[in-house]
Amino acid sequence: DDCVQLGPQGWTSCQSGEHVAVYGPVHGQIIGKVHAFSREEVDQAIGRLQEGFQSWKRMLLTERAQLLHQWADKLEANRAELAELLMLEIAKNHRDSLDEVQRSADFIHYTAEEGLRLAGETLFGDAFPGQTRQKVSIVGRVPLGVVLAIPPFNYPINLAVTKIAPALMGGNVVVLKPPTQGAIAGLNITRLAYEAGIPDNVIIAITGSGRVIGDYLISHPRVNMINFTGSTQTGQHIASKAIMVPLLLELGGKDAAIVLADANIERARDNIVSGAFSYSGQRCTAVKRVLVVEEIADQLATAVAQKVMTLSVGAPEADSVVTPLISNEAADFVWDMIHEAVAQGAVALTPLRREGNLIYPVVLDFVTRDMRVAWEEPFGPVLPIIRIHDAEEGVELANASEYGLQGAIFTQDVSQAFLLAEELDVGTVQINGKTSRGPDHFPFVGTKASGMGAQGVRYSLLAMTRLKSTVLNL
Ligand code: G3H
Repeated sequence: DDCVQLGPQGWTSCQSGEHVAVYGPVHGQIIGKVHAFSREEVDQAIGRLQEGFQSWKRMLLTERAQLLHQWADKLEANRAELAELLMLEIAKNHRDSLDEVQRSADFIHYTAEEGLRLAGETLFGDAFPGQTRQKVSIVGRVPLGVVLAIPPFNYPINLAVTKIAPALMGGNVVVLKPPTQGAIAGLNITRLAYEAGIPDNVIIAITGSGRVIGDYLISHPRVNMINFTGSTQTGQHIASKAIMVPLLLELGGKDAAIVLADANIERARDNIVSGAFSYSGQRCTAVKRVLVVEEIADQLATAVAQKVMTLSVGAPEADSVVTPLISNEAADFVWDMIHEAVAQGAVALTPLRREGNLIYPVVLDFVTRDMRVAWEEPFGPVLPIIRIHDAEEGVELANASEYGLQGAIFTQDVSQAFLLAEELDVGTVQINGKTSRGPDHFPFVGTKASGMGAQGVRYSLLAMTRLKSTVLNL
């Protein structure tokens, strides 16, 4: 019953009762309505999951893996329809929407395989002073229980799947709380999980108003783990409410691309532009500031601006790189930040143009430390360029951020890049490449306000299971 169907009124949740409207970002119209869970319904759903947990955790690992493979196959078979939904719900362009679905199917397959290889270890007591070999610990991994998965609007399928698949493979059951814009996609991938044979008491999608069920869910005594991707503010709120519950948090970022004098300018330009502007900059790993040494600053700024002027802007169906932002409020936030910077002396290298929530891509040169755009995460198509004296100043400026997701260094001197990488207080440093999360078996980590814990196929499997030691006293 956790489904949505396309009818004459648009998408509608099959569940009756209260509904929450889902607005499409392109025209601002209601594209569907999803069920608004009450707290009682949340309790019932979690109760059902706890029942499901008893059999799911005992199911043979190979059988769980098989069900996950079948789910991935369903996603692939429905790739076109799911991509349509992403275009409609979050205005992601067609190519990226198809990629998101494919990447999700690939992630599930990989997780199903990797989950089979999670092995424990055996420890003998006599390695510790005064102990004998008669004590043997058999160390294995067991599930945590009910995992609450909360993906954000920008990857409603992929960042749901990267939580759900490792949780299920680890033997857990899952509450999926999709973002409201992205809820229809979330409900559809849940339906496909059922169609693939995953029991409907093993994953349940809970939609509704954050005001009614948000805090209720994150502080629910029967939730055993929370995996959240979204803003730092919400992540910190979750951390303050979820007491003694393991957290895996992927939060905001202000990823810097440091460009040194010997960098290959074309390579830096291409990576910076696609890193900053794909999906209109609505990615936690987007390049959110360029820190470039004075010697090549003019050259790089011109090259970046020229390339940005060629980016397609418009409808997701037309495969535009820059599409309408998720909401008018989001666009207002970005627009204000741009204008504030210009008023403080930043130079816009591209025209400032906005149509509703569609903001044309903006490159701001001569950004200084006193501007908000130097530090805050716009989550929109604006790229500040800050000029620096040398690599050390770049590292200092990069590390002065409250965030620590990723950083990039462009130079042909790999030794220097490696040494600078060691100084950057971030989860991942990209040398001569844009900041980004994938491939998805790599570890994905945020320091400071960017998150807690490590994700990536194997790392997520480890985070969603715990050690259990059984000691033989021979
Ligand atoms: O928005 C946060 C995502 O984890 C970023 O993923 O680098 O593949 O776009 P991405």
